[in-house]
Amino acid sequence: KTLSSRSISAVAEYILSGRAKRIVVMTGAGISTAAGIPDFRSPDTGLYANLASLDLPEPEAVFDLSFFKVNPRPFYVLARELYPGNYHPTVSHVFVRLLAEKGLLHHLFTQNIDCLEREAGIPANKIIEAHGSFASQRCIECKKEFDGAKMKEFVSRGEVPRCEEEGGCKGLVKPDIVFFGEQLPKAFFDRREMVEQADLVLVMGTSLQVHPFAGLVNLAEERVPRVLFNLERVGSMGSQADDVLVLGDCDEGVRKLADELGWREELEEKWRG
Ligand code: OAD
Repeated sequence: KTLSSRSISAVAEYILSGRAKRIVVMTGAGISTAAGIPDFRSPDTGLYANLASLDLPEPEAVFDLSFFKVNPRPFYVLARELYPGNYHPTVSHVFVRLLAEKGLLHHLFTQNIDCLEREAGIPANKIIEAHGSFASQRCIECKKEFDGAKMKEFVSRGEVPRCEEEGGCKGLVKPDIVFFGEQLPKAFFDRREMVEQADLVLVMGTSLQVHPFAGLVNLAEERVPRVLFNLERVGSMGSQADDVLVLGDCDEGVRKLADELGWREELEEKWRG
């Protein structure tokens, strides 16, 4: 065993001893719910439970490329709600920035498309947005990029943007979010080895239900402690000797860890901005 016990204080002790120099963080929608953005799969509050009005064959269809080609409207109804700009990073986001500032963040893999990692000040070269983001968009036919300011207008009006290329492509424009049926960015696969190099893995706010992202947690070496900050136990988390489950609100869990590390004040200050 690497930790003295399966507790937050043992994790803090491990970090403070200098043995965790390459921390890999994996995040999902649960780290942004405190910012006011719904997650996907929570039973009552999750997006998938609240899409009934959109008349979808199944909730996931809203992010399905073949469905989008036939009916892009539901996605654009959702996009209006999820569009970045009106939300502020959470304590959990800021904790990851703190790790980066202390030279401990090896890499962050996020499934989130809300851009709050960048907003929190986590260095761009440390972030893999495994499912893309709303930061750019393009025509799904000719792949030509579409102007960001125009995109904002379309989304705020709840309208579907189409390619304006000369010659009349008129293809549907879609944010560079990875839909079901699309490949993850090449960088995701290139940087998976960073999980193999990790000496500590923190998993926060994800149901670990979507692959290949969910498989990342299994790439860490077996002796490497993995800590889960989540409302519920997920995936293989908890199955290894040095897994630590911090069940509950992730901001609360992160604050406890920050307390143990003596970083709490710094964390709160940075969060307040
Ligand atoms: P999910 O909605 O599947 O899972 C969110 C997890 O966070 C659940 O286990 C919740 O219990 C937990 N959770 C919610 N609020 C929390 C809080 N305040 N503190 C701690 N835990 C909390 O979201 P993801 O795992 O991110 O794909 O979903 C993965 C992918 O599925 C998404 O990237 C999305 C979706 O289809 C695309 O957008 C393309």
